[in-house]
Amino acid sequence: MCGIVGYLGKEDAREIILNGLRKLEYRGYDSAGISLYKKTDNEFMIYKDKGRVAHLESITDFSYDTGLGIGHTRWATHGIPNQNNSHPHQSNTKRFIIVHNGVIENYKELKNDILHQTNFYSDTDTEVIANLIEEFSHTLTVEESIRKTLTLLEGSYALLVIDRLNPEIMYAAKNKSPLLLGIGQGGTIIASDVMAFVGLANDYVTLDDKSFIEVTKDGFIIKDIIGKETPYDIKTIDIDNFNVEKGEYAHFMLKEINEQPSVIRNIISKYFDGDKITLNGNAKKMINDSDRLYIIAAGTSMNAGFIGKEMFEKMAGIPTEVHIASEFAYNMPLLSDNPLFIFISQSGETADLRAVLVNIKRKGYRSLTITNVKTSTLAREADGYVEIFAGPEIAVASTKAYTAQIAILSILAMHVSDNTHLNLRKELSKVAISMENIIDKKEYIKDIVKEYLTKRNCFYIGRGIDYYASLESALKLKEISYIQTEGFAAGELKHGTIALIEEGTPVIAIISQKEINKNTRSNLYEVQSRGAKTIVISTKAVKDSSDLIVLDDVFELFSPLLTIIPTQFIAYYAALERGYDIDKPRNLAKSVTVE
Ligand code: F6R
Repeated sequence: MCGIVGYLGKEDAREIILNGLRKLEYRGYDSAGISLYKKTDNEFMIYKDKGRVAHLESITDFSYDTGLGIGHTRWATHGIPNQNNSHPHQSNTKRFIIVHNGVIENYKELKNDILHQTNFYSDTDTEVIANLIEEFSHTLTVEESIRKTLTLLEGSYALLVIDRLNPEIMYAAKNKSPLLLGIGQGGTIIASDVMAFVGLANDYVTLDDKSFIEVTKDGFIIKDIIGKETPYDIKTIDIDNFNVEKGEYAHFMLKEINEQPSVIRNIISKYFDGDKITLNGNAKKMINDSDRLYIIAAGTSMNAGFIGKEMFEKMAGIPTEVHIASEFAYNMPLLSDNPLFIFISQSGETADLRAVLVNIKRKGYRSLTITNVKTSTLAREADGYVEIFAGPEIAVASTKAYTAQIAILSILAMHVSDNTHLNLRKELSKVAISMENIIDKKEYIKDIVKEYLTKRNCFYIGRGIDYYASLESALKLKEISYIQTEGFAAGELKHGTIALIEEGTPVIAIISQKEINKNTRSNLYEVQSRGAKTIVISTKAVKDSSDLIVLDDVFELFSPLLTIIPTQFIAYYAALERGYDIDKPRNLAKSVTVE
């Protein structure tokens, strides 16, 4: 994970890098650092510490002009978050200064084989890179030294390198970790995400794996690892600056929960012409040509995948399996004859998914990515992609991307089904209105949280599609409020887990389906008899007078699009009540680019 930003040009590098790091903080926020060129002293200064970008800003000297620098915001992989392990790191003589996102898998071997004379001052794998460059620079040019170093690295890296002896140039390199180059009016910016360019550069270049880049005040050259210049495409940024600001909301998460009705309407406008689905590209053909779908995802996106499975099977009759990416990558099940792999990923950068994509491509299988970021690695490398149009999701806890993914999965399932009766556009429009009805009642949900969520643990239960919604509801609550929460198949509790229910344990049941209404309610009586404090989230068609949250009736496979919203608010208010950092929960990062 981690986010990196570098700038060389006529504008204020410090402002550009700090601003970029703020936008990339979602990628990790254990520590932050920056190195800036101080022209008056012909010296590179380094500021770094454990903590957030706001803290880095407070320790950075603003008193001099600077047009060159590199910065980093960290999600710790090697070594605890402290000042020593913060980036930038330097080579032994301090000549080379680098920031790195990724994991160097063979760093111990490189230390033992080549750098046995070198001193190391941190626990990171990154210091090895700086010292290899220095080691080779005794006999090679700097460019050759960096490229030689790259040939030895196993693993992933997005790197920015500065040579103290040449403040006219910034070097960059990329393999597996994301890195993009922004072309601004006054200079060149290189960063882990296009977000860092917003307001600064309109055009950008997506860098390929094994690229090596030299940036000077006159522009940039992109080469491959051998040193041969490579062609590139220039694209235009289409992110609205407004979309990456909190505006009137206290937190991005609250903003993003509230945005869900407009995301659904946006998806309708992108994928429908009247009532007709207008999905371009090869998605329909790829699905029709396959005999089984394999949805590969992680976390919230996997929970959306479970709803997708229901849709593909129930609406289109296509057998569908859902797999945890990190498991599938190294323990593949027996596959059908014509599998299609569907990767669901908000960021499009999740390393666990990429490992599967690389593996299945090698075997010649077809792939489709469903993502919020069309410039992402998974979108570029799959055979096709479908964009979810949720707009930038900044809060680490995913909300609007989940509902957008489900909406897109329904459109795909409908697109390949024979059903001529269901008016999907109309059903999605109804969902948007019903979402607004819940959002209007958020203050009421806040009161429920105060009264019911008083313990260190909690359960969400449901059956069928409500069970899948329970999994996502539980993930939301645990990741931001740190209340230990399990999403459980309602009927399975009594087979062991019910032992955890004691006086006052909150159990939240999701009930939206007629066929399982009675069964889930029986499971509720079982936990109530053992002291649980129960909350029911139901829909009008199945409601009981004692249910605390009753939602509109919608097309039954769409119920998770509604039932999830009160649970997102439950998570939000539980975290708010406890005073936690809602948008940046501990130990997490938005884009998980390490396996
Ligand atoms: C939880 C959350 C994560 C992500 C997971 C996959 O709120 O956001 O569980 O869903 O890390 O990320 P993407 O969707 O970017 O592949």
